[in-house]
Amino acid sequence: GRPLRVALLGCGVVGTEVARLLTRDADELAQRVGAPLELVGIAVRRLGRERDLDVPAELFTTDAAGLVSRGDIDVVIEVIGGIDLARDLILSALEHGASVVTANKALLAEDGATLFEAAHKAERDLYFEAAVAGAIPIVRPLRESLAGDRVQRVLGIVNGTTNFILDAMTTTGQGFSEALDEAQRLGYAEADPTADIEGFDAASKAAILAGLAFHTRVTIGDVHREGITDVTAADVRSAEEMGCVVKLLAICERRDTPDGPAVSARVHPAMIPLTHPLASVRGAYNAVFVESESAGELMFYGPGAGGAPTASAVLGDVVSVARNRRSDVFGPGESTHAQLEVLDMGRA
Ligand code: HSE
Repeated sequence: GRPLRVALLGCGVVGTEVARLLTRDADELAQRVGAPLELVGIAVRRLGRERDLDVPAELFTTDAAGLVSRGDIDVVIEVIGGIDLARDLILSALEHGASVVTANKALLAEDGATLFEAAHKAERDLYFEAAVAGAIPIVRPLRESLAGDRVQRVLGIVNGTTNFILDAMTTTGQGFSEALDEAQRLGYAEADPTADIEGFDAASKAAILAGLAFHTRVTIGDVHREGITDVTAADVRSAEEMGCVVKLLAICERRDTPDGPAVSARVHPAMIPLTHPLASVRGAYNAVFVESESAGELMFYGPGAGGAPTASAVLGDVVSVARNRRSDVFGPGESTHAQLEVLDMGRA
């Protein structure tokens, strides 16, 4: 088939890895898609930075808006993050006929509805496997594999930084700040760890998971949120005495109310019995435990962050949407036909 033109927005840790694999594995990817994927532009904030990439220098541009509105792009990959610029670029990409692959959990949790509506109107794909739990396939399972089942509850360890910190507190007896220092020294926690330790990152992922699991719209504003900054060494010890371990959990539930079924989503530290599969999730790993009516209990486990794992999820989406572009179809859109009420859990 004719080559499919791919534009990459963002060339940080994930973007660099995506560009590297698109180049290195061009032949294999072409076979899987049925057409070559041609990387035609990489939008960056600044030109001239040293990048460890074997691509022609003229692919780099600072004009992201110009790149997505060229009109001849088949797939736009958004890995710049943030809200406003990313939203403008994704909407423009869809309007100009491209399908979109994004890893942007914050934007999806804040204003996914606008993106889904634009994708629906444009008859293009919006895929986002990398937005929740990095490499772990969880978006497709909820969006597609389990679409015929009734999900009751989703329990997720969806933030690697906080799981690393709580795990360090458990194994070494350290307090929160010591464990945070260590996480920063080892590169797990960012210089500004707020989004992770205060639970914002997990709350975004909870909103996305709840929307997918219950076929409804949930935003980060609907998610009750409590981080791990108040968890003490004594809390961890007393959990241990009760045969439990402390984890930061994203909990998305279907609830029966007098007015019918509803949905709740929250993020807070929780005690998990050591016998539960989620208790075995160590270090910076992630896991999502799904309880559904017919399938029963499922657990999805793996690396939740990092350049290569996240690039794996992005490229899987690129292959899917490129296949769809080839046959001029589009995949699952937003499924909100059974719009459930979202319970206000109080806002932290
Ligand atoms: N900062 C996140 C985490 C990774 O620690 O899991 C990106 O979502």
